Amino acid sequence: MQRLLNNIIVFLILFILWYSVHGKSQNKFPEQLKFGVATASFQVEGGWNASGKGENIWDRLMHKHPEYVVDHSNGDVTCDSYHLWRTDIEMLKDIGVHFYRFSLSWTRILPTGFSNRINSDGVKYYNNIINSLLENGIEPLVTLYHWDLPQKLQELGGWTSVQTAEYFADFARIAFRLFGDRVKRWITINEPSSICLDSYDQQIAAPFIDLPGIGCYLCGKTVLIAHSKAYHIYDREFRKKQKGKIGITIDSQWVEPKTNKTEDIEAAERYMQMVLGWWAHPIFSKEGDYPEIMRKRIDERSALENFAESRLPHFTQTEIDNLKGSADFFGLNHYHTGLCSHVEFPISDSPAYFKDLGVKVVPDPNWKPNQNIVPWGFYKLLRWVAKEYNNPLVYVTENGYGDSGQEGLLDTDRIVFLKGFLKALLQAVQEGCNVQKYTVWSLMDNLEWTQGYTVKFGLYKVDFNSPNRTRTPRASARLYKYVIKTGTIPNKTDFFLNN
Ligand SMILES: *[C@@H]1O[C@H](CO)[C@@H](O)[C@H](O)[C@H]1NC(C)=O
Ligand SMILES: *[C@@H]1O[C@H](CO)[C@@H](O)[C@H](O)[C@H]1NC(C)=O
Ligand SMILES: *[C@@H]1O[C@H](CO)[C@@H](O)[C@H](O)[C@H]1NC(C)=O
Ligand SMILES: *[C@@H]1O[C@H](CO)[C@@H](O)[C@H](O)[C@H]1NC(C)=O
Repeated sequence: MQRLLNNIIVFLILFILWYSVHGKSQNKFPEQLKFGVATASFQVEGGWNASGKGENIWDRLMHKHPEYVVDHSNGDVTCDSYHLWRTDIEMLKDIGVHFYRFSLSWTRILPTGFSNRINSDGVKYYNNIINSLLENGIEPLVTLYHWDLPQKLQELGGWTSVQTAEYFADFARIAFRLFGDRVKRWITINEPSSICLDSYDQQIAAPFIDLPGIGCYLCGKTVLIAHSKAYHIYDREFRKKQKGKIGITIDSQWVEPKTNKTEDIEAAERYMQMVLGWWAHPIFSKEGDYPEIMRKRIDERSALENFAESRLPHFTQTEIDNLKGSADFFGLNHYHTGLCSHVEFPISDSPAYFKDLGVKVVPDPNWKPNQNIVPWGFYKLLRWVAKEYNNPLVYVTENGYGDSGQEGLLDTDRIVFLKGFLKALLQAVQEGCNVQKYTVWSLMDNLEWTQGYTVKFGLYKVDFNSPNRTRTPRASARLYKYVIKTGTIPNKTDFFLNN
């Protein structure tokens, strides 16, 4: 009897020990996974012509064509972070983020875009932010290019001109030299798909050029080469001394085949290869270069369309070699999931990227919490990236929830979204995906490009009618603060809604 009791007590003690290590940790993020929030220069800074800043393509577009923007707004002031950056840092401190992802405005530093003239007030602005972040124990994660190309470079052809890669490389070198003693994490380019498709194929982004099926691939080649040039400049000239990491941020939806028909399953895989793989395959795959399926489809369609050459330009072998392995981490932005089916678009003399892709993607009205926003899509995307590219180091550099702002400060929908996506992240990490940063888009409401101020993504609400651009935390900011502080996802949310 005594022996049995002893055994039971020993068993209980062992169980409690095991539980304290494993049981609790089931809902806990590993220590090395860091949490942050993101913004981008054009969307928050304002000060569009302050202290020597030059004009970029978004300044030009919104001034010249307010009708392209849903609410006819522009970026002249936005959140006024050019003046209110100290307030932003107070907010970051309050949420308790480990890092802050923001971008450099190219024309604030180099007003014309060229390297011959540096605007010292622009440099001072970023020095202030970087120094203040570090004083507060917040790591800066800096994006070199988040869509605000110098207008002068657009006039020389913008991203469809290979020369733009050289100008970008010059800018990158200057940024590493000016800030690299303190900035240890660099993202070269944010969302190449958006840069090249939204502007040339879809006409929903500056510079609004109507050259579908052609402009996007010229742009894509330059953007990839620009990235690899910046990477190698860092690697050769700065890495040894500055000891940082540099990568690129690629965005992708997740798609599910709409049916179990082979052609839909293939369409979904083709979507992943031609949307995400377009950028990731040249950098992260063993073979390098564009995905085979992409090369094959565009070459075939170009020939049938009577083009003398493929609309997808080729890389030289040196360019392929320089791109291969040119990232220390895989930056990933993710928002949506869709149902994908195969569509064979007829050959005509008007090519387009979506015809090359040959798919149709639709939401599913039955999905929860939203017809195109589902946590399991995020989980599957993380697994796909890990499998496809040999489990690279991943930084989730954007993930967030946009709404009309109707919910005000008690943003229940955003909380449901955050909890769901954090659980999906936790599951992927527990199953071995090497994710070490997660970033909420966005710190605060801001200028959502051609959606103007009609879509709100902020953990903080911004009052765009007040001269002070007053910022107020939403319930989601309190929830995220809890997640960062405890490393766990809370079950109950009433607390965050009532305080
Ligand atoms: C800056 O732009 C504003 C319009 O947003 C204009 O009123 C002002 O004169 C400009 N300032 C400079 C220095 O060009
Ligand atoms: C496809 O088949 C799988 C496995 O049999 C099944 O779980 C899934 O629901 C099917 N999907 C569709 C869209 O029919
Ligand atoms: C705006 O900010 C200034 C300086 O902090 C303050 O004095 C003023 O009261 C604020 N105005 C409003 C309307 O909040
Ligand atoms: C939270 O919910 C999970 C799953 O429903 C449950 O296993 C866990 O015990 C709950 N934790 C707390 C602290 O209530």
